[in-house]
Amino acid sequence: MRSFLLLLPLWGLWAGVGASDFRICAFNVQVFGESKSKNVEVMKTLVKIIARCDVCVLQEVRDSKNKAVPKLMAELNKYYRASPYESVSSESLGRSAYQEQYVFVYRTATAAVVGQYQYPDNLPWSPDAFAREPFVVKFSAPSTASSADRHSPPTGGRIKTFVLIPVHTSPENATIEIDALYDVFTAVRRKWSNESVMLLGDFNADCSYLPKKNRKNVRLLTDARFNWLIGDDRDTTVRESTDCAYDRIVVEGNTFPRHIVPGSAEPFLFPAAYGLTEAQAKY
Ligand SMILES: *[C@@H]1O[C@H](CO)[C@@H](O)[C@H](O)[C@H]1NC(C)=O
Ligand SMILES: *[C@@H]1O[C@H](CO)[C@@H](O)[C@H](O)[C@H]1NC(C)=O
Repeated sequence: MRSFLLLLPLWGLWAGVGASDFRICAFNVQVFGESKSKNVEVMKTLVKIIARCDVCVLQEVRDSKNKAVPKLMAELNKYYRASPYESVSSESLGRSAYQEQYVFVYRTATAAVVGQYQYPDNLPWSPDAFAREPFVVKFSAPSTASSADRHSPPTGGRIKTFVLIPVHTSPENATIEIDALYDVFTAVRRKWSNESVMLLGDFNADCSYLPKKNRKNVRLLTDARFNWLIGDDRDTTVRESTDCAYDRIVVEGNTFPRHIVPGSAEPFLFPAAYGLTEAQAKY
């Protein structure tokens, strides 16, 4: 894998979950397809990683025959039968024969999908900005959670639904793509007004891919409404020789931040936690 798991615990997001943490994650699985899904050790690690999350956005999934993801879901649910996971995948996205999918894996006890929106990437002022245009998903507390719970009096305003915008940018066009996320955000706002929105994934937002001189051109950075939760000083890469904050979580507005314990957005160092060597982790 290329990156650590990005993990964001949210407190008191919705009443159905009680006051416990609700965790949103992003993970670049680096070419997750049939061959990786046949590796027992890799699958074990992946299951452990995803099981830390209530909603996990997987990027760089290459499973056009739809075999690897069902296998992953079966493995996951073998271990977590009491609290099963489901998934929702984008189409294969890409400019050439090389294509990737975004896959959201979510725990059905704590989250339900209530909307999907494939960003068309054909706006007149922002045509074809993305190598893999965001596949946007809206979540709510599951309908099985008692409505009494979900509508209990808010303490500081609970979130009823929220929207996740994932992206895996192409490194060579990272500046343009990160900037164009602003247009995705605007389109999402038009479609679903008043939603709490989070953008997350492998932005390639550091080192040579997003040089300092380019940053003034990135509206997601210059517009103060956006809050970058993973700082430039973080290292989200598995490779020991690189120190770059490629993977990011960005939230808009005040609603999400109210539910975030300051400084709690973290790259989860799974190789150390699971006793993997760099070579094993990078597989
Ligand atoms: C980068 O952007 C240019 C111009 O839009 C495009 O032709 C090229 O294919 C992009 N590169 C990748 C890897 O998507
Ligand atoms: C959006 O929020 C504003 C301010 O809280 C409120 O006045 C407005 O009615 C809301 N709009 C929708 C469509 O929910």
